[in-house]
Amino acid sequence: MNVLVTGGLGYIGSHTVVELVAAGYKPVIVDSLVNSNRGCLSRLHTITNSEIPFYHMDISDSTKMRQILSKEKITGVIHFAALKAVGESVAKPLSYYANNVSSTISFLEDLEHLGIRQVVFSSSATVYGNPKSVPISEDFEVHAINPYGKTKSIIEELGRDLCANDSPWAWVNLRYFNPIGAHESGLIGEDPKGIPNNLLPYIAKVAAGSLPELVVFGDDWPTIDGTGVRDYIHVVDLAKGHIEALRYMERNRGEVTVNLGTGSGVSVLELISAFEKASGRKVPYRIGPRRQGDIAECFADSTKALKILNWRAHFNLERMCQDSWRWQAQNQRGYE
Ligand code: NAD
Ligand code: WQD
Repeated sequence: MNVLVTGGLGYIGSHTVVELVAAGYKPVIVDSLVNSNRGCLSRLHTITNSEIPFYHMDISDSTKMRQILSKEKITGVIHFAALKAVGESVAKPLSYYANNVSSTISFLEDLEHLGIRQVVFSSSATVYGNPKSVPISEDFEVHAINPYGKTKSIIEELGRDLCANDSPWAWVNLRYFNPIGAHESGLIGEDPKGIPNNLLPYIAKVAAGSLPELVVFGDDWPTIDGTGVRDYIHVVDLAKGHIEALRYMERNRGEVTVNLGTGSGVSVLELISAFEKASGRKVPYRIGPRRQGDIAECFADSTKALKILNWRAHFNLERMCQDSWRWQAQNQRGYE
């Protein structure tokens, strides 16, 4: 099966490409490089020992997209391509609605035109907003509190509408929790442009000495040690979830929404400590004020993923930190 991977040179997309090849699929990558680096492609060739077709383009380029979908005989899609910085989405909502929602509509019209109706969509736990309790299950109310999260909710709904009324579409919304880690080879990993927004890449840069210290956003949350609690999941486990979603769509039509998380919460201080142990480096930090829009705790009820996709996370926090550190230590300047 030939699978189009939009955003396939990004962090999660690149790890999923590796798992696709390992599972016998033929991935084809489309990426605008708006938040990724072409250098990732040769690393993918090395890891998979295969040539992976890559098209440098925006998914909204409908003419080119239709040519590629036909030429590459695509039958299914994993749709990662999106902008993902929460703060930037608040500052530039139009860019986020245009790049994430409008481009997706154009892309879906291309798929429909060519009769390709199997989509795995990258959604996010961010759609839950501030959840009423933890763990969070898929039937919790969706209430995104920033434009980025709203773009995810809208596309999820689009998938549901496409699947309504006995339609031929199959659509899996995967709500990721907090992906960290990297491929065990140390060849691919998260390569944020500029100063990282997310906790783990920030910790990794502090451990490596390229940033002086971490600011912990509040130690007065109602959690185990006062710092924010999240469900960190190894990116390779996450990537494997997409393979199971493709297999699910081979057997089922209609829409399904599934959390991908480990089901366990880890605090900021616990993550710092695990990273120090894995790296053998100190991670200097100080406590600062809470970050606007943050929540105390967020972790998944992951029983539906096991039931529907026969998927569960396998890698523990120690392994996540070891793999993140290997990537960071071997690639101080990312893919450059
Ligand atoms: P990423 O930025 O590393 O990857 C996204 C890729 O899409 C990039 O390579 C970028 O260049 C490309 N892209 C963006 N807009 C495009 C467009 N219009 N046309 C073509 N290519 C385009 O991000 P990631 O962490 O790999 O995330 C992948 C997906 O998972 C995104 O949809 C993101 O919103 C979602 N997600 C990420 C996280 C996370 O914490 N990393 C959590 C939940 C959901
Ligand atoms: C984790 C914890 C912070 C940085 C975000 C998006 C979400 C999803 C994943 C895409 C929190 C604390 C962080 C720092 C800190 N992305 N922290 N100092 O906020 O759970 O989720 O990324 O869909 O949409 O919102 O992840 O890594 O930013 O923060 O103390 O310098 O680390 O307060 O408790 P978050 P994060």
